[in-house]
Amino acid sequence: MGTSATLTLGNHTLELPVIEGTVGPKVVDVRSLYATTGAFTYDPGFTSTASTASQITYIDGDAGVLLHRGYPIDQLAEQSTFMEVCYLLLNGDLPTADELAKFNYLITRHTMVHEQLMSFYSGFRRDAHPMAIMCGVVGALSAFYHDSTDIADPHQRVVASHRLIAKMPTIAAMAYKYAIGQPFLYPDNSLSYVGNFLRMTFGVPAEPYEVNPVIERALDRIFILHADHEQNASTSTVRLAGSSGANPFACIAAGIACLWGPAHGGANEEALKMLREIGRPERIPEYIARAKNKNDPFRLMGFGHRVYKNYDPRAKVMQQTAAEVLDELKLDNPIFDVARELERIALSDEYFIEKKLYPNVDFYSGIILSAIGFPTTMFTALFALARTVGWVAQWNEMIADPEQKIGRPRQLYTGPTQRDYVPLDQR
Ligand code: CMC
Repeated sequence: MGTSATLTLGNHTLELPVIEGTVGPKVVDVRSLYATTGAFTYDPGFTSTASTASQITYIDGDAGVLLHRGYPIDQLAEQSTFMEVCYLLLNGDLPTADELAKFNYLITRHTMVHEQLMSFYSGFRRDAHPMAIMCGVVGALSAFYHDSTDIADPHQRVVASHRLIAKMPTIAAMAYKYAIGQPFLYPDNSLSYVGNFLRMTFGVPAEPYEVNPVIERALDRIFILHADHEQNASTSTVRLAGSSGANPFACIAAGIACLWGPAHGGANEEALKMLREIGRPERIPEYIARAKNKNDPFRLMGFGHRVYKNYDPRAKVMQQTAAEVLDELKLDNPIFDVARELERIALSDEYFIEKKLYPNVDFYSGIILSAIGFPTTMFTALFALARTVGWVAQWNEMIADPEQKIGRPRQLYTGPTQRDYVPLDQR
C-alpha cells in the first residue's frame, strides 16, 4: 500500500497520494486538490514541483550526481561519445556496435539543410547574435520538412528527431560563417559529428581542413556534458510548447529562445566575459566582494545552480578538459589561472560555502571554447546544438506519455477585482 499525505484546508481533509520514483524525492500527487478543495498550489519557479514523470535524466543536486538513463555523467564523458549518448537519451539503452553504426548513418544522412534555407541567413544583419539566427532558422525548418511535422505519427517523430540533431551543427556553423563573411561549407559526411562541425565552422573551401583529434574529443565531451539536464527552463519550455501539439521544429526553436537567457545557457558567454574583465588574480577579491554585496546586482557568472548545492559534476570534467585543450594548443592562458584561483577563493569563502555556491558547467566551458577559436557569441549556440538531443528526447517522451495533456499552469491573482468600465470622457 502506498503512503499518502494528509492536507487539511478549511472543512476539507484530503488524503493526497505520495508517489515514489525509482530514486529521488517522493512526490505528493496534488491533482485532486483543486477539484476537492477549490485551492491551487503556489510555487513560482517550480522549486517544489515535479512537472512530469521522466525516465531520462536523474539529478541529485545535494550529492552532485547526474545520471543519464542511469549512467553517471563522468563515465559517459570519459568513456563514451556524443553519438552514443544521443542514442542512449533517445532510446533508453546504450547501443550495440551495429546499432551505433546505423544511428551514425541515419544522423549523417540528414546533415544537409534545404538549399533555400540558406537564403534565410542573408535576411539577418551580419552582426546578429547567432542565437537570434538559430531561433529563426530552426523555427523555419517546420516550413521545409512537412513530412516530419505530424506528431501523431511515431515514424515522423523519429525522422524529425534525427533531422534536428543532424542539422543543428550545420545551422550553427552557418550562423558563424555568415557573421564573419565567409562562404558556407557543406557537410562532409566522412567526418565524425564533431569533426564535421569543426570543419564547417573553421574550414574554408580553398584549403583542406584537418581535424585535430584532441580538439575533436574535447568538443565531443563538451557536447556530452550539455546533452540533457532533466526539467530545466529550456527543456520545460520545449515540453510546454509541445504539449499544445506544436510541431517539433517550433518547439525546439522555443527551447533555443529560453536557453539564450543569461541565467541559463547564456551564462557561459557571461562567465568568460567576467573572467576577462577580472583579468588578473590580484583583482579577484574585488569581484568576490561585489558578488557578496546585496546592493550590487553583480553575480559570479558560472557559479551557483538551482539544483546543484554541491560541485556540479560537469564542472569537474570541464576543468580537466580545459587543461587538456590548453596543453594541446600550447596556450598559456592567464584567464584559466584566474578561473582556477577564483574557484579556490570562492570555495573557501564563508558566503559561498553557506549558500552552497559551486562552479557550474559554464564556469570552464568558455575557456575551452575560446581556446578552440569560437567567439563568445557562439558559446550559447554550441550549448543549443548539444542540448537539442535532450530537448528532442524529452519531447518524444512527453508525446508518447498517455498522461500527457496541454500544460496550463494556474495563478494566484493579485490584480483588481471586478469594476465597471468608465467611459473615456468620465476618466
Ligand atoms: N554569485 C553570487 N551570489 C549568488 C550567485 C552567484 N553566482 N548565485 C546565487 N547567489 C546568491 C543569491 O544572491 C541568493 O542570495 P540571498 O539568499 O542572500 O538572496 C542565493 O545565492 C540564492 O540564489 P537564487 O538566485 O535564489 O538561486 P536560484 O536557484 O534561483 O538561481 C542561478 C540559480 C543559476 C540562476 C544563480 O545561481 C545564478 O544567477 N548564477 C549565475 C548564472 C549562471 O552561472 N547560470 C548558469 C547555470 S548552469 C547552466 C544551465 O543549467 O543553464
